[in-house]
Amino acid sequence: MRRSAIYAVMIVFLTGLAATAPTATDQDKGAEQMSLEGGSQGMVSFPHHQHQKSLADCNACHDLFPQEAGAIEKLKAGGALKNRQVMNTRCIKCHRDKKREGAATGPTLCSQCHQRE
Ligand code: HEC
Ligand code: HEC
Ligand code: HEC
Repeated sequence: MRRSAIYAVMIVFLTGLAATAPTATDQDKGAEQMSLEGGSQGMVSFPHHQHQKSLADCNACHDLFPQEAGAIEKLKAGGALKNRQVMNTRCIKCHRDKKREGAATGPTLCSQCHQRE
């Protein structure tokens, strides 16, 4: 094979690799909608992708726990997270801050997040 033909084959191959390589835009975004364990107060329904869209920064929550299903319960069981730490220092804190700023916000009352059967 002539050298130019070898280069041509390599370029096709490398372009193909680039097209299939994962990029920042198709990272695993997890479930769109979740139901989080809320103890005695009942489950908490959480629109995950809606928050990703309005907040942009994954670490607004994931600085406290990794991007893994069941991570919060696992860290709570191991003592690395206190009960209600995510709720108080992330969920409710942010909703209060946004409300104070007059921005679109989420619920701050127990019964607006926790669903009792
Ligand atoms: C407002 C809070 C919040 C933001 C912002 C957020 N997440 Fe999550 N994420 C969660 C919660 C809560 C869980 C569930 C953890 C658990 O099950 O204990 C989760 C779980 C996940 C999981 C695990 C799979 C699953 O479906 O449970 C992945 C992957 C993930 N998030 C990716 C992301 C990415 C990527 C971003 C940013 C684009 C992001 N998250 C932004 C709260 C958030
Ligand atoms: C913005 C939504 C939201 C609001 C408002 C809210 N919670 Fe929660 N709550 C959660 C989430 C998410 C969890 C699970 C994560 C955690 O424990 O930090 C939780 C967990 C809990 C737990 C279980 C803790 C454990 O592991 O034993 C209790 C009890 C609880 N909340 C009580 C309350 C009470 C009482 C109020 C009102 C004063 C309230 N919550 C308001 C979202 C909320
Ligand atoms: C850093 C800010 C921030 C954090 C952290 C955050 N939220 Fe929110 N949340 C918002 C904003 C802003 C809205 C208003 C709607 C929108 O723009 O997505 C909202 C809306 C909501 C709504 C109402 C959705 C609707 O369609 O009416 C629920 C329920 C909610 N949040 C639950 C939670 C829970 C549970 C957590 C913690 C696991 C949490 N949020 C953490 C900013 C936050």
